[in-house]
Amino acid sequence: MNPRVLVITGAGGVGKTTLSAALGVTAARMGLATCVMTVDPARRLASALGLESLDNHPEPVTAQPGLSAAMLDVSASWEAMVHRHAEPEVANRLLQDPFFRALADRFPAAQAYAAGEQMSEHVESRRWDLIVVDTPPAGGGLDFYTAPARMREVVGGRLLRWLTGASIPGRRALYKVTARPALRLADAVLGGPLLEEIAEFLLDLRSLYDGISRRSRAIDLHLREATSIVVTTAEPTPLREARRFFEELESGPGRPETVVFNKQLPESWTVSRNLRSPDIGTDVRIAARENLSRWAAEVRLQHEVKQEFVARYGLHLLEVPWVDRSPTSVDALAELLEGSPELVAHVLGPTSEDR
Ligand SMILES: Nc1ncnc2c1ncn2[C@@H]1O[C@H](COP(=O)(O)OP(=O)(O)O)[C@@H](O)[C@H]1O
Ligand SMILES: [Mg+2]
Repeated sequence: MNPRVLVITGAGGVGKTTLSAALGVTAARMGLATCVMTVDPARRLASALGLESLDNHPEPVTAQPGLSAAMLDVSASWEAMVHRHAEPEVANRLLQDPFFRALADRFPAAQAYAAGEQMSEHVESRRWDLIVVDTPPAGGGLDFYTAPARMREVVGGRLLRWLTGASIPGRRALYKVTARPALRLADAVLGGPLLEEIAEFLLDLRSLYDGISRRSRAIDLHLREATSIVVTTAEPTPLREARRFFEELESGPGRPETVVFNKQLPESWTVSRNLRSPDIGTDVRIAARENLSRWAAEVRLQHEVKQEFVARYGLHLLEVPWVDRSPTSVDALAELLEGSPELVAHVLGPTSEDR
């Protein structure tokens, strides 16, 4: 049986990496053999997990038995991907190719696709009961879901088919390609060698198609079978990104049905405290009261924002409280979720199949 996969997505800075790690620690303490795949963890969090450098290979976390962690290395994943899908000679040529390097650097889905390949490798290794996947923030997290189809489009898409013919052509077809009128015109402008280089690059890229097509469909399948949660805060910018997520991702299996509001102020802050104690000076009392009422207004506003958001997209609402210190030890990570038993039950409790 494949392991359970939990995909944590959302905009940058909302706490995806922190919550991924916290869920990993909690799951390991529940007895699940767990792997957390992190993306760009803050330095102190990385060292709490024993992650000293980028490495796609999960290593056991010394401080937490049952937990292993990896830190996504995009360029290593990208190279492994090319070697997996191309003949050695073609792979080496592609990895040296400036056009290909530009594609890897600038194509926004590249990083997300590399993370997807890494995820499916961990899923298929069957070493774990649970894999927690932290995702790159590109596109508000959406890129992770759309990257497999976009990669298929890049390596097998219409432009390439038009340039290289319906099937994967041999080297000789390259001359036919460069003989096309549109390209001959470009050739005159850009100069012959450049155009031939581009054509050769496109043919090499095209040869990745079968492998990427198969692999990207496997990633799609793992995503459909995963539990996905979107993390946001109640701030306008992350919320806007989260909204895009629910509006642009087609409904159906794999589409997240849960939103987690992280860094939430405690409801208790809407209640005025008794500030009548005789040892508090009047000026302090006035300042404290003003401060409290400001926070109370903020908590009420956030409450409305959350209710409106979940009602609009028909979502399950979960919350994680704001804590006054970044959790950077396994104990602090576990503590972070102690106030959110609903979240733990939702993502780590028995699945509907188990029940
Ligand atoms: N519930 C929380 N309370 C307080 N700070 C938090 C909370 N969750 C995350 N943070 C802090 O927010 C910052 C961004 O978190 P991080 O997990 O790196 O976000 P992301 O992976 O989404 O970019 C970090 O400094 C982290 O310690
Ligand atoms: Mg992160």
